Amino acid sequence: MELSSRIKSVQPSATIAMDARAKQMKAQGLDVVDFGVGEPDFDTPDFIRAAAKAALDAGDTKYTPAAGAKLKAAIVQKLKRENALEYTTDQVLVTFGGKHALYNAFQVLLEPGRKVLIPAPYWVSYPEQVKLAGGEPIFLPTGPEKGFKITPQDLLARAGEARVLVLNNPSNPTGVTYTPQELKALAEAVLKTELIVFADEIYEKLIYGDTKFVSFASLDERLGERTLTFNGLSKTFSMTGWRLGWVAGPADVIKAMATLASQQTTNPVSFAQAGALAAYSDPAAAAEVEAMRREFERRGRRMWERLNAMEGVSCVQPTGAFYCFPDVSAHYGRKLGEAKVAGSMDFAAACLEQIHVAVVPGAAFGEDRCVRLSFATGMEQIEAGLDRLEKLLG
Ligand SMILES: Cc1ncc(COP(=O)(O)O)c(C=O)c1O
Repeated sequence: MELSSRIKSVQPSATIAMDARAKQMKAQGLDVVDFGVGEPDFDTPDFIRAAAKAALDAGDTKYTPAAGAKLKAAIVQKLKRENALEYTTDQVLVTFGGKHALYNAFQVLLEPGRKVLIPAPYWVSYPEQVKLAGGEPIFLPTGPEKGFKITPQDLLARAGEARVLVLNNPSNPTGVTYTPQELKALAEAVLKTELIVFADEIYEKLIYGDTKFVSFASLDERLGERTLTFNGLSKTFSMTGWRLGWVAGPADVIKAMATLASQQTTNPVSFAQAGALAAYSDPAAAAEVEAMRREFERRGRRMWERLNAMEGVSCVQPTGAFYCFPDVSAHYGRKLGEAKVAGSMDFAAACLEQIHVAVVPGAAFGEDRCVRLSFATGMEQIEAGLDRLEKLLG
């Protein structure tokens, strides 16, 4: 069957593909260490599951009026309490995960020829979603030598050509975070332009050491009318399978996104919304989130230290999210076991096939020198996988 040119231009998600291959090998009985996954390994906290079960038992199984009305009010409270952001419920839309919110935002703001600034390395879905909306990505390269961060100069050099800037902080795949000062400097640069900012803050709670998180839109009151803040429950509350995310921004954009959703997905799952409502309003939440954060911090530090001690590996310290993104390019051009390695694709393939360790090639994120390892897996797995990697590289 002849498929549309729209879908033919889109790459399937490399991270999901790597995960599928690792799962297939596990199903064959192989002892695979999976550093490919981008999801917390913890169960969703009990009180959230209990709220969703209670909603199901109470018959909360129908279409919900407007997308997530009660939940929207709780999100408005959360934004005020935790992010110093003032919104009303007509400025919030609840979606099927943060990915869906981003997708719909590109759909309502882009048009053929409209360009989007995407700092590279980037989360795999941004460029593909831009293309699906008829837009064009412009990549702003960073690299380990710049700590994987863009500067105001990088932004201003290309701002005239673009409509939107995507700012993902903390970052997937690099694990780096912008300091409040760096973010403020970027905000000042943005205010000199006509750019709309997509602030993807889905990893806001996963920050380490003395890292401070601030919401981009809170840095200047003029940013409110040109920023969309994206977030969701997947990473903070270990709720990836629930598919709940949201966006806050100018009411006209939110209304357009709601119109699109009304012809597309109607409302987010009714009883999942009840779980999310508990996540944002139950006082038990903070301690649960903090326990998960602390464990990620311990694992991330260990993984980073061990990677940096390996032959030909150099890794920027992750201060957020749950990824290490080491530069392994010193190994390109040599053989790892049986396989000749020319780039990150070969490197990842050698890891998976020869030592049964799944990592994601940096090429998928626009940085071929690196590979991504997730530390959203248990400490035993981390030690075992890194033992194997050390041996392969040594
Ligand atoms: C940077 C970033 N943004 C958004 C998302 C979307 O997550 P979800 O659709 O599960 O809310 C992800 C998930 O991996 C991510 O890494």
